[in-house]
Amino acid sequence: MWSLTFLSSFVSVAVSLSYAASAPRTKNDWSFVRNGTTGITATQSIVVSPTLILMFDRVLGDPLQINGHQAWVELWNLETNTGFAVNAITDTFCASGSFLSNGTMVSVGGTEVEFPPNVTTPPEADGRMGIRLFEPCTDPTGRSCTLFEDPATLHTATYRWYPSSLRIFDGSLMILGGSSAIVQFYNIIPENSFEFFPSKDNGQTRPSPFLEQALPSNLFPRGFALPDGKVFVVANNISMIYDVEAQTETMLPSLPNDIHVTNPKDGTATLLPLSPPDYIPEVLVCGGSNTSDSIPSLNLSSQDPASDQCTRITLTPEGIEKGWVVEKMPAGRIMPEMILMPNGQVLIINGGATGYAAIKSVADTDITDGSNADHPVFTPVLYTPDDALGSRFSSEGLPTTDIARLYHSSVTLTPSGNIFLAGSNPNVGVVLNESVIFNTDFRVQFLNPPYMSVERPTISEIPEKLAFNDKVTFNIDIPKGLDTGDIKVALMDLGFSSHAFHSSSRLVFMEAELSKDEKSLTITTPPNNRVYPPGPAYVFVTVDDVTSKGTQVMVGNGASPPVEDQGVPLHT
Ligand SMILES: *[C@@H]1O[C@H](CO)[C@@H](O)[C@H](O)[C@H]1NC(C)=O
Ligand SMILES: *[C@@H]1O[C@H](CO)[C@@H](O)[C@H](O)[C@H]1NC(C)=O
Ligand SMILES: *[C@@H]1O[C@H](CO)[C@@H](O)[C@H](O)[C@H]1NC(C)=O
Ligand SMILES: *[C@@H]1O[C@H](CO)[C@@H](O)[C@H](O)[C@H]1NC(C)=O
Ligand SMILES: *[C@@H]1O[C@H](CO)[C@@H](O)[C@H](O)[C@H]1NC(C)=O
Ligand SMILES: *[C@@H]1O[C@H](CO)[C@@H](O)[C@H](O)[C@H]1NC(C)=O
Ligand SMILES: *[C@@H]1O[C@H](CO)[C@@H](O)[C@H](O)[C@H]1NC(C)=O
Repeated sequence: MWSLTFLSSFVSVAVSLSYAASAPRTKNDWSFVRNGTTGITATQSIVVSPTLILMFDRVLGDPLQINGHQAWVELWNLETNTGFAVNAITDTFCASGSFLSNGTMVSVGGTEVEFPPNVTTPPEADGRMGIRLFEPCTDPTGRSCTLFEDPATLHTATYRWYPSSLRIFDGSLMILGGSSAIVQFYNIIPENSFEFFPSKDNGQTRPSPFLEQALPSNLFPRGFALPDGKVFVVANNISMIYDVEAQTETMLPSLPNDIHVTNPKDGTATLLPLSPPDYIPEVLVCGGSNTSDSIPSLNLSSQDPASDQCTRITLTPEGIEKGWVVEKMPAGRIMPEMILMPNGQVLIINGGATGYAAIKSVADTDITDGSNADHPVFTPVLYTPDDALGSRFSSEGLPTTDIARLYHSSVTLTPSGNIFLAGSNPNVGVVLNESVIFNTDFRVQFLNPPYMSVERPTISEIPEKLAFNDKVTFNIDIPKGLDTGDIKVALMDLGFSSHAFHSSSRLVFMEAELSKDEKSLTITTPPNNRVYPPGPAYVFVTVDDVTSKGTQVMVGNGASPPVEDQGVPLHT
């Protein structure tokens, strides 16, 4: 067994970012709650069922054991707040993933086998071409669910360490970029290409001039499926739209002020909520670094200020013409992550106020015991997309934590509607040494929005499958006192959290009509499979800013990818 008790006495270096937590705490504030400890570093997390989160790490000393050796995959049971090991064959450091249209979760990419000194290496295989399938899991405890791998027959076309991925309009996974092996900082052995799972090109890759132009800070490109089926990508300081069908890249304006937003200069990005009738896509990009890529990493410092810039673009011809609109967060952040909330707000959380991603590669990591980043930002910020420019950020009522969530941490919205936070390990392997500033962190935390502590609307009798362009009626029970004139129904992919990015995260609002007796709600599902790529989703109903628990549904026909177009085309 391992001892984690000392971790609670360890306090990270705080920076004086006092914009937060000055408002008096009321019953309706947000709160951080500690509960449970993981047995692996939660480098990557994805909600795989209403009760389960699947986490991935690397083969480098995690305490959790399976079959007499280290485990590097763990299932977390949200009902008990305990986890258990899941068997994997290949090394999942550092991968990405998403669900397919048939509900199977795919983990993709990873690393070669490492043999560090003094670590008992379990029998893992090279994960750089890793494809791991987690079939839909209906056992609430997850005990009977497994991760399927067959590296000999099931693998990517090429080596991919630090790729990203997203589910596209036909329910397949698009896999973007990466490097062909571990790099220390900049991507010097790039894999500047795309591929798909299942493959669209007979096991070949599609070269990407865009990713090449985005060198050398282009790891974990941030990509989103747009409502017309094309894919927006931002990597380093540039962005483009990729047409999967025509195989063309169309450059968009570069990020203002030469801000770099992908690994190792991780900012983050999200597709803002899409709303009927036009589902106009807008992308928000936040944080990162403005230091030039021509500076060698050993000339950079863990104390370099991170960028406080957010930029937003509307992906219509007029919006692209207008370009990126600049906004400022209350604090700079390297490695932040953005969580779409069911009411349409965006939570910006985690990361540091200075430095970079990765470990021991900038000049002065002696002062951080190895972390390239420093000054963790302990207070989350809410961004309200519909508010006026200049007044969209607020930390009012948001709590401050003392747990640093820096490199190799993950965070996700849960089906209950609160936020799960775990991980952080800016070390090579597991470090449990009280004198090290940023130890490997196994503490699980939840960030509870105000609605977690009041009586909430409940929804029931939602069909398991939602077809596109359909009207569906289900039951709703609304607590007394809530304004039933203010109802929002969100269809959400909760995304896959890895390296300060939430792949496939999506929120599509649905038109909703409350019955006269206020006991049922009739919704109109998204018009087609491009507005919501077919696959699993959660439905959340927010009444008067009080959000229900999410109900899991399958959107589309549930067939294996590639699926045909479904529903009706979007008229714009
Ligand atoms: C932790 O979670 C478990 C399982 O949900 C619950 O029983 C327990 O009360 C929680 N503990 C705290 C301190 O919230
Ligand atoms: C690693 O193992 C060697 C030989 O077993 C031992 O001498 C050394 O002290 C160990 N180093 C660390 C950092 O534990
Ligand atoms: C983007 O970054 C690259 C690499 O550092 C640099 O050469 C280029 O000038 C930057 N482009 C813009 C538009 O800032
Ligand atoms: C980069 O950002 C820092 C902090 O915001 C600022 O002081 C500096 O002038 C910026 N450098 C460049 C080259 O824009
Ligand atoms: C990097 O630092 C070294 C030593 O301080 C200095 O000689 C060199 O000019 C620096 N290089 C760049 C590109 O800043
Ligand atoms: C713990 O960390 C300190 C500070 O980095 C280091 O000097 C010491 O050797 C470490 N102890 C062990 C047992 O690794
Ligand atoms: C989903 O599709 C993938 C790719 O064809 C396949 O490997 C997987 O077994 C399918 N899952 C289900 C539940 O049909």
